[in-house]
Amino acid sequence: MGKKVTVVGAGFYGSTTAQRLAEYDVFDTVVITDIVEGKPAGLALDLNQSRAIEGFETKLVGVTTGPNGEGYEAIEGSDVVVVTAGLPRKPGMSRMDLLETNAKIVRQVAENVAKYAPNAVVIVVSNPLDEMTALAQIATQFPHNRVLGQAGMLDTARFTNFVAEALGVPVASVRTLTLGSHGDTMVPVPSKSSVAGKPLREAMPAEQIEELVVKTRNGGAEVVALLKTGSAYYAPSAAAARMAKAVAEDSGEVMPVCAWVDGEYGIAGVYLGVEAEIGAQGVRRVVETDLDADERAALKEAAEAVRAKQSDVASM
Ligand code: NAI
Ligand code: 2OP
Repeated sequence: MGKKVTVVGAGFYGSTTAQRLAEYDVFDTVVITDIVEGKPAGLALDLNQSRAIEGFETKLVGVTTGPNGEGYEAIEGSDVVVVTAGLPRKPGMSRMDLLETNAKIVRQVAENVAKYAPNAVVIVVSNPLDEMTALAQIATQFPHNRVLGQAGMLDTARFTNFVAEALGVPVASVRTLTLGSHGDTMVPVPSKSSVAGKPLREAMPAEQIEELVVKTRNGGAEVVALLKTGSAYYAPSAAAARMAKAVAEDSGEVMPVCAWVDGEYGIAGVYLGVEAEIGAQGVRRVVETDLDADERAALKEAAEAVRAKQSDVASM
């Protein structure tokens, strides 16, 4: 049977994700929804009209949803649902400033996803990411493996880009890794980073690595400060779309994602940025990698920071 994916939220993140998913040409249907009257239908119409030029057969369907779940029938049978609904940051705001507003939105969306697409894998991108992922699992009551968040793919891509630019080498020759939270306790992992197969620490002095680590942690804020009216969406949508594709294709790719951690790294009972094998059921397993003592300590610190906030969202 053909695959179906839904993108909830037709803002910048949602519309660019829908475009990428359609252009992969691996889904039968991409549904895009929003609460704004007409906007998702307009985007779907526009994207469908690009099919003859870009050469894809995927059909886009745009639906406006109502406060009581009106319109959600359109998501029935979705294999994957990407949740982008929620406000983005403004300059000077932290992702955590969005907590209460976005919690209401994500809870409402998640309850409708559970009702209308009970077998879907849910990929959350709304911020603050680690908390909204935890909330989506609570509100859907889906098994933890079927609810995951997008952050690590993006943060890792930013780190890789900065390293490639600093050294003047192709991005394809650089590997980096970023774990932890999608926030202040993000954990870029230099010990697992390399350039053309050579450890990053041999390719660049420690101070320069630290500079790029800080730049990666601020990667989102730097874009917000320049855009002034919203946050990043090209790199974020590339990240979420790749995750949705890995689910649809049951690919088994190992990706840095926000996943439920249950004993790995000596950490349990929290959504945290780790590497995981992604398949049709979402997270097949968390992949634990060797970390330096300081990286391991930073990951534990990140886990405790997000654990405290994640317990708050249960009542939101
Ligand atoms: P945007 O403002 O362009 O779009 C958000 C859309 O959500 C709007 O069209 C709005 O009408 C819609 N919406 C609000 N309530 C809704 C509901 N109940 N149901 C359906 N749709 C609803 O914002 P943008 O740039 O698309 O960002 C979306 C979210 O993604 C933000 O929370 C942002 O912080 C987050 N984000 C996360 C990243 C990550 O790495 N995890 C990276 C970039 C953004
Ligand atoms: C980003 O990292 C704001 O979370 C968003 O670009």
